[in-house]
Amino acid sequence: MADSILVSAQGLTKVYNRGTEEVRALDGVTFDLQRGEFTAVVGVSGAGKTTLLHLLGCMDTPTSGELLIDGQSTRGLSDSALTRMRREQVGFVFQHFGLLPTLTVMENLTLPTLFSKKEAKAYANELLERVGLTHRRNHLPNQLSGGEMQRVAIARALINRPQVLLADEPTGNLDSANGEAILQLFHQLHRDGLTIIVVTHNPILANATQRQLVLHDGRLVP
Ligand SMILES: Nc1ncnc2c1ncn2[C@@H]1O[C@H](COP(=O)(O)OP(=O)(O)OP(=O)(O)O)[C@@H](O)[C@H]1O
Ligand SMILES: [Mg+2]
Repeated sequence: MADSILVSAQGLTKVYNRGTEEVRALDGVTFDLQRGEFTAVVGVSGAGKTTLLHLLGCMDTPTSGELLIDGQSTRGLSDSALTRMRREQVGFVFQHFGLLPTLTVMENLTLPTLFSKKEAKAYANELLERVGLTHRRNHLPNQLSGGEMQRVAIARALINRPQVLLADEPTGNLDSANGEAILQLFHQLHRDGLTIIVVTHNPILANATQRQLVLHDGRLVP
């Protein structure tokens, strides 16, 4: 059904200029993701995975090609329109968590919110319960374990009720027990209907998804 496509990548190409050299990090990548799909992006180092995730997260713009999110093209959007798209539609989990060290867990969660402080706090509490960290609400990031930090980062990515959750190597810095906890959390979010895209080298996580997009030298392997 065409109207259940949430993310549509059409010939996405990204060329970086490194000195006089051109790096074709992504080269004509085309795919559709259905709403509610749980997808892994895999491939060797340098294949273009992070580049693709940044484009999908509206954190960067393609050199050519087009990205549609929920039927809306991001082509030609102004910086402010792209920022709005990023804040309203997309939740992003960075490999190194990206938590602000001087803010508590609760403050980290409510910082990027688009709605009233009171509403934000209520929803942040709900999300903390969901990721099992209610008791860590007033802790600073450096008082948390790696697995806990990752769960806070995921909760924060969900605070604006995004349509799609993007995560770059979400288990990359975690031991297997914490990696397993993150996988279970993704399963639960997926069951609740969230669309999830993870970049991962972790075969357990990749195999737990419904679909794998394999990148090689910036191209999708069919
Ligand atoms: N800002 C940049 N400027 C120049 N080249 C870049 C830039 N970012 C990435 N590249 C190059 O683009 C290619 C794809 O990089 P990308 O970070 O997307 O790979 P990746 O698949 O995420 O790798 P990894 O598994 O190591 O994280 C690489 O050749 C990389 O060196
Ligand atoms: Mg990467």
